[in-house]
Amino acid sequence: MVLTFFVLMLMNIIKTGHVSALGSCPKCGNVEVPYPFSTDDTCGDSRYKIYCNNSNNGNGILEFKSAEGFYYKILSIDPSAQRLIISPPDLVQDGDTCQTSDFSLQGLRLDEHLPFNVSTRNTVILLNCSDNLLRSPLNCTSNSLCRVFQDKLLEGKNNACKGGLCCHYLKDSHMTSYVIRVRVGGCTAYTSVVDIRPEDPVEKWSYGIELQWLPPN
Ligand SMILES: *[C@@H]1O[C@H](CO)[C@@H](O)[C@H](O)[C@H]1NC(C)=O
Ligand SMILES: *[C@@H]1O[C@H](CO)[C@@H](O)[C@H](O)[C@H]1NC(C)=O
Ligand SMILES: *[C@@H]1O[C@H](CO)[C@@H](O)[C@H](O)[C@H]1NC(C)=O
Ligand SMILES: *[C@@H]1O[C@H](CO)[C@@H](O)[C@H](O)[C@H]1NC(C)=O
Repeated sequence: MVLTFFVLMLMNIIKTGHVSALGSCPKCGNVEVPYPFSTDDTCGDSRYKIYCNNSNNGNGILEFKSAEGFYYKILSIDPSAQRLIISPPDLVQDGDTCQTSDFSLQGLRLDEHLPFNVSTRNTVILLNCSDNLLRSPLNCTSNSLCRVFQDKLLEGKNNACKGGLCCHYLKDSHMTSYVIRVRVGGCTAYTSVVDIRPEDPVEKWSYGIELQWLPPN
């Protein structure tokens, strides 16, 4: 029985030149893990590695790891459109600080060797920008969508992201689709909104960073 299995597998390797693809992964808590995503070596396709965090009382949280090793929570996966949405990092506003939690890693960077990139449906909002940004093609005007976001940030003492220069841009195909960068001398915090339509009120914005993936060949 076992021997038959190995013989069949061997024949398959000889026939196709590689080990046949593994099946899809079991649920993470109560969250489906669609193929080709892989939460461990025994399932999915290893190029589509994501992480199942079960420390939240058994309610699974799927996470996507950036090239720099930062974990972003996965908000949704749409296998038919080959898109997933990850959560923008938290804003850290404390006294004089306006940063995102991935600031020390200079924001989000995807591994270019993996089949993911940032989709063209993200509007990126940058906060606490330096004057250098005024010479960039980004929209840092008083009409920028970042002002709408700043106005929506909660009132309170620790609100360093509310003031200061801010900008927005559509992550379109003219830009590198592997990074959203923050740094001293640029902007130190960001968020992203998926598929903004001009008529949408700020209450309807859906915050997230949409990634797309290439299907396994
Ligand atoms: C897993 O989830 C818990 C609870 O939400 C969180 O505190 C922890 O940082 C997560 N672990 C990773 C590696 O992201
Ligand atoms: C804004 O960023 C600059 C660095 O570019 C930093 O020195 C400053 O403290 C930041 N301001 C806030 C409110 O975080
Ligand atoms: C900046 O963005 C606002 C809001 O989308 C838009 O109305 C305005 O025309 C833009 N300005 C420039 C210079 O792109
Ligand atoms: C991102 O990847 C998709 C396929 O996954 C591809 O069609 C698209 O051209 C890529 N975009 C950029 C800007 O590289």
